[in-house]
Amino acid sequence: MDNHVKSRSAKFYEMPVLTLLFGSDEHPGGIPLTRELAGSALVGCDDRVLDVACGRGESARVLTEHFGCRIVGIDYSEENIRRANELTENVGLSSRVKFVQGDAERLPFANDSFDVVICECSLSTFPDLALALTEMKRVLRPGGRLGISDVVLNQALPESLQDLVGHVLCISGALPIDGYRDVLDQTGFSAIRTRDVSEVLGDMISRMERRIGVIENFLDREQFELANGLSASFSSISAARDFVLSGGAGYALITGKKPIAN
Ligand SMILES: C[S@@+](CC[C@H](N)C(=O)[O-])C[C@H]1O[C@@H](n2cnc3c(N)ncnc32)[C@H](O)[C@@H]1O
Repeated sequence: MDNHVKSRSAKFYEMPVLTLLFGSDEHPGGIPLTRELAGSALVGCDDRVLDVACGRGESARVLTEHFGCRIVGIDYSEENIRRANELTENVGLSSRVKFVQGDAERLPFANDSFDVVICECSLSTFPDLALALTEMKRVLRPGGRLGISDVVLNQALPESLQDLVGHVLCISGALPIDGYRDVLDQTGFSAIRTRDVSEVLGDMISRMERRIGVIENFLDREQFELANGLSASFSSISAARDFVLSGGAGYALITGKKPIAN
């Protein structure tokens, strides 16, 4: 059942139309927020960084260029990994950035192998969020830093967002901010800090809606309806917009540290 959810979620993110919808980076706040997250997690030029659920690797490429660090990205979707490797090769960054297919809940890396782990807009989509965090802690060296960005749930989720679309938009599995704090604490992270950056979520949904307008003009109505049920997905997006604008959901940066002795 969990593997089924993961595969459906990964398949959703493989759809080319999502690049039109999200742009090349699939999270609220885009690359500026990625840089901010990496800064909060104190990424340095000698660091080995792991990006969990890296998508097509946009963040990894930007971070290696900006901070000079070496990065490994992992994603459940084989197609995302194929594209990530291709795009990285095209810009000549393959010696510093690698991508591997795998599951956030069973990271294929040795204990203590990274200085920093980041996970953008994805933690809340994992069926077992505590297991994924336990894995992130295992692969971090003692004293290593964790940087998460994710949707924060401030109100009970309306039924219309409890389907797969709510799931892949990172809303249906999202926790209240104290829920994230608690799960990081329970999985053994220390120095937990959170920062509210909710404005980026509304901005992203407005951008998506503008793009939907362009897609609708581009396809005729029949094609639009036939496009893999996307019209249903799009109406869930407007439900998500209403929920976010009414303060039901926000966005946050969450950082923590693997204790030196544990
Ligand atoms: C919203 S996208 C975020 C992509 C990227 N982090 C970004 O911010 O641009 C969510 C990503 O999580 C990946 N994913 C979902 N479940 C996963 C799992 N169990 N393990 C690894 N990746 C997963 C999907 O394939 C997708 O690429």
